[in-house]
Amino acid sequence: MAVRSPVINVMAAAALKAARGLIRDFGEVEQLQVSIKGPGDFVSAADLKAERLLKAELARARPGFGMLFEEGGAIEGSDKRHRWIVDPLDGTTNFLHGIPHFAISIGLERDDEIVAGVVYEPTRDELYWAEKGAGAYLNDRRLRVSARRQLADAVIGTGMPFRDRAGQESYAATLAAIMPATSGVRRFGAAALDLAYVAAGRLDGFWEFALKPWDIAAGMILVREAGGYVSDLAGGRAVMASGNILAANDHLHPQLAALIRDAARVPHQDQI
Ligand code: IPD
Ligand code: CA
Ligand code: CA
Repeated sequence: MAVRSPVINVMAAAALKAARGLIRDFGEVEQLQVSIKGPGDFVSAADLKAERLLKAELARARPGFGMLFEEGGAIEGSDKRHRWIVDPLDGTTNFLHGIPHFAISIGLERDDEIVAGVVYEPTRDELYWAEKGAGAYLNDRRLRVSARRQLADAVIGTGMPFRDRAGQESYAATLAAIMPATSGVRRFGAAALDLAYVAAGRLDGFWEFALKPWDIAAGMILVREAGGYVSDLAGGRAVMASGNILAANDHLHPQLAALIRDAARVPHQDQI
């Protein structure tokens, strides 16, 4: 039986509480698909409500920690060592369209390093959690990244730039290189869950450009604690700073990194 530390309990309790509101609101959104006004404003309100609740719960349990929330931005704490990095609703476009694939993501940073993460998927009641040195878990089951060695057998997750997001050409080049090399590419629409799925061995790898710290903070530690390898797209360690991420097991990671590097012409960086 996996033993959760006090800080994981705090994060899990906050996520579960916020999830109750999201599930209720998701039921509403499904109805609103057919209304003329659409669910847009309603979803923004649901997102903000989840953020407010998470902020209050985390602040109550650990007063003084700093915070970085997607909607509200950064809040300095009296404790300069610790910071929560939170996405109250990852997979907003799915949520808005009534697609049941979205999550709450909470990462904890200590001295500029992510030391704990929780990703909760309310519609499946799946709680992914990891703490530095203690492993990664789905509910109470220990996680391990997949053991596949051949790209030809691998299913790789990704996220594509949309609307006016930059980097569409270089992204398309990486997709064109990875598609024919693998057994399939998936775009599920919630980066925190994509990383959780890599940790759980459901996806054999994941790459995306230009993500934000709240999309990846919790997912990164899930993958690492499940024995996977996480880097930026040049193979370096500037993941949070660049927002560019490649996660996979240590057999597939170098193969994917080489394909991406050649396709996007990302200059190779030494580890920083
Ligand atoms: C988005 C999702 C999506 C990714 C986008 C993110 P949001 O987060 O994680 O999968 O492709 O880059 O912005 O807006 O749903 O919180
Ligand atoms: Ca997000
Ligand atoms: Ca979000």
